[in-house]
Amino acid sequence: MKMRKAVIPVAGLGTRFLPATKTVPKELLPVVDKPLLMYNAEEIVKAGIEELVLITGRGKTAIEDFFDVSYEVEAILDQSGKSEWLKELRYLRSHLKIMSLRQGQALGLGHAVLCAEPAVGKEPFALLLGDEIMITRDGPSAIEQLVKSFESTKISTVSVMEVPNSDVSKYGIVDVKPKQDGQWQVISVVEKPSPQDAPSQLALPGRYVFAPQIFSHLRSTKPGKNGEIQLTDAMTALAKNEGLRAMTVSGQRYDAGDKLGMLIANIELALERNDIGPQLKEYLVTQLPALLERIK
Ligand code: G1P
Repeated sequence: MKMRKAVIPVAGLGTRFLPATKTVPKELLPVVDKPLLMYNAEEIVKAGIEELVLITGRGKTAIEDFFDVSYEVEAILDQSGKSEWLKELRYLRSHLKIMSLRQGQALGLGHAVLCAEPAVGKEPFALLLGDEIMITRDGPSAIEQLVKSFESTKISTVSVMEVPNSDVSKYGIVDVKPKQDGQWQVISVVEKPSPQDAPSQLALPGRYVFAPQIFSHLRSTKPGKNGEIQLTDAMTALAKNEGLRAMTVSGQRYDAGDKLGMLIANIELALERNDIGPQLKEYLVTQLPALLERIK
């Protein structure tokens, strides 16, 4: 069966970016000049996914507006005929049906995912956590690599990355059997373990493809770490019943979930752009060393 749907939870408060996120959703913060969410939408469309389900909440209506037609701005840009981003946005609009459901209360990531069930139904789906930007220049997008795996194995598959032991407490960490055919079979998943309790250093960075049975496991998941309904607890149940695979995906990863990661994403992605890349490079090479010298 073709993977048709993707879910992105966007109800989070974005507290790491306050005060910017007091009235602007974190998902619309710009990386260079495109909102974070647009990078995720591009990744989804590249995978041939046709429907995007946003799990949204209070104060986030600007996200839904973003994908609508803005007649005034678009008419002006059409006249000038010089808008690359408008072409990109129209491409996304014409390839993605976007719907949103509300997470009335912030009860955890697992709860947010469960809120998607009425729109997803009994189909497999992709799940993207929007803090991560995955750039793949050639070849399949990050989520597409998981989709392809699911389409051949019919087993839920998640992306993992190796992190230093000091970072395991920031992520969901998987316990796995030895790798076979490029994938690990997941035994269980622990949410943000301490370094001494971590079953491995393989962390979940936020790309998942799930069979619909994840919903029934989420329904019976009790509040776990921090009193929240944790997706990772339902993943353990999924691993023990229907099975769960983990694999590394290729691509350039940016963690835009905190200030430093966001700044790095802005610098590196801006450097690759034809319009401002050369000037930024010039600035970094000629001006920055002197500044670094001054603040030493
Ligand atoms: C969430 C998940 C965690 C995952 C992480 C990736 O945590 O609960 O399992 O590894 O996203 O960013 P959060 O970062 O929202 O606290």
